[in-house]
Amino acid sequence: MKICIIGGGNIGSALIEGLLRANALAPEQITVSDPSAQVLGRWSQQGLQTSASNAEAVRGAHIVFLCVKPHLATTVLQDIRTNIFSAQLLVSFVAGLTLQDIETITGVRPIIRVIPNTAMAVNASVMGVSSRHTSEQEQASVTELLSKVGMVIPIDESLMNAFTVLGSCGTAFALRYVRACMTAGCEIGFKPDMARDITAQVLLGTAKLLLETKSHPETEIDKVTTPKGITIVGLNEMEDQGLSAAIVSGIKAAYRKMS
Ligand SMILES: NC(=O)c1ccc[n+]([C@@H]2O[C@H](COP(=O)([O-])OP(=O)(O)OC[C@H]3O[C@@H](n4cnc5c(N)ncnc54)[C@H](OP(=O)(O)O)[C@@H]3O)[C@@H](O)[C@H]2O)c1
Repeated sequence: MKICIIGGGNIGSALIEGLLRANALAPEQITVSDPSAQVLGRWSQQGLQTSASNAEAVRGAHIVFLCVKPHLATTVLQDIRTNIFSAQLLVSFVAGLTLQDIETITGVRPIIRVIPNTAMAVNASVMGVSSRHTSEQEQASVTELLSKVGMVIPIDESLMNAFTVLGSCGTAFALRYVRACMTAGCEIGFKPDMARDITAQVLLGTAKLLLETKSHPETEIDKVTTPKGITIVGLNEMEDQGLSAAIVSGIKAAYRKMS
């Protein structure tokens, strides 16, 4: 299998790093296309094929991943549409670009739309996936590849904007929580790096608890809040300061902006 990645920025690089870390593909099975000589040089040094021409890069690829910024997506799709054959799967990571938008530019063809996050680089992304004109085999091959860089969740395309906010912007929301804990952690005695590691491991452990037990967060909170204890004092103070309301309000504001 050969894949082509158009746009070697944050998301294109995260995908490549995750696939290489998982040994899902050998470097020579991946071609990266990007206008930046620095980006191409970085991947070429690691044994990937590189190209400054998108039209050239898609030749021979079984799957073409579109990883450019939304405002460039139409131009790039117009550039490659005559070079990309119907047997080649087109997978778009572009936020806000619908399956219909892609079909309008490239014609009827198998298309998969994915919203990932940057944790693909460490094989721990979550990805919402919708598709059009794809066979079960095509869906299965893309799901198998993407599952090497995280959890794949098939969703109706109508939920893509909501998924973008929760699953993709969610990385930044979680990081802001970590940064706040680092600031507070420093005040109560830790160096920032140690506070970061403690908080990150707490989040990792909490995430595993929820994913493995499928428990409700309040059930787990009940297990760690002793009556008259310290945890409940901290939680109640955070809620007095508007923690849950701020999160709900932020997610809804981001969704309004997306829609
Ligand atoms: N970042 C996220 O967390 C995230 C999450 C979900 C979805 N997405 C989607 O992923 C896509 C990429 O986002 P990103 O954060 O990776 O952006 P990015 O870091 O700017 O990466 C885009 C890359 O594409 C290159 N590029 C520009 N014009 C090109 C062209 N004509 N042909 C090929 N490559 C070209 C850019 O080069 P220059 O910098 O030199 O212009 C850059 O290296 C976006 O559509 C975004 O909606 C991102």
